[in-house]
Amino acid sequence: MNEHLPSSLGRTIILAGLLLHPFLLTGCTSKGPTSAHVLTFEKDLKALMKNYCLECHGEEAREAGLDLRSVEFMLLGGESGPALVPGNPEESLLFSMVLDGHMPPDGKMPDARETDLLARWIRQGAN
Ligand code: HEC
Repeated sequence: MNEHLPSSLGRTIILAGLLLHPFLLTGCTSKGPTSAHVLTFEKDLKALMKNYCLECHGEEAREAGLDLRSVEFMLLGGESGPALVPGNPEESLLFSMVLDGHMPPDGKMPDARETDLLARWIRQGAN
């Protein structure tokens, strides 16, 4: 008899959930609301590298022998060995040095959101 109420209430809750869903995904603010959004170097990291790192680790200069223009170069690394360990941000020099404030050595630093982006990209496998 009173089946109406619970089911419409249920629908309302599901609807609200769907509407709220994208805003609850803290990570994927830039590109679409899919929870399965996998970060890629091309789409998500290039700008960060260009803004903070390539001036000294790119075409013009390769400090410590390190080129950060591609994932392949990151894996090759510099004088200290590979700068990137996919799946493991803490083991990745290019992340740990940003985290401890060593890189970039001067100028503006990546903010918390950008540092988090870098960590998540590495954790997801650095594609
Ligand atoms: C103003 C120039 C400059 C910028 C910008 C810069 N670096 Fe560096 N980087 C250096 C210099 C110089 C060294 C070598 C000396 C040292 O380790 O402090 C170095 C060394 C490194 C190393 C160690 C490489 C090795 O094999 O020994 C890593 C990793 C690194 N940088 C990552 C980054 C990342 C990631 C960014 C951007 C967030 C960045 N750097 C931005 C100048 C820079």
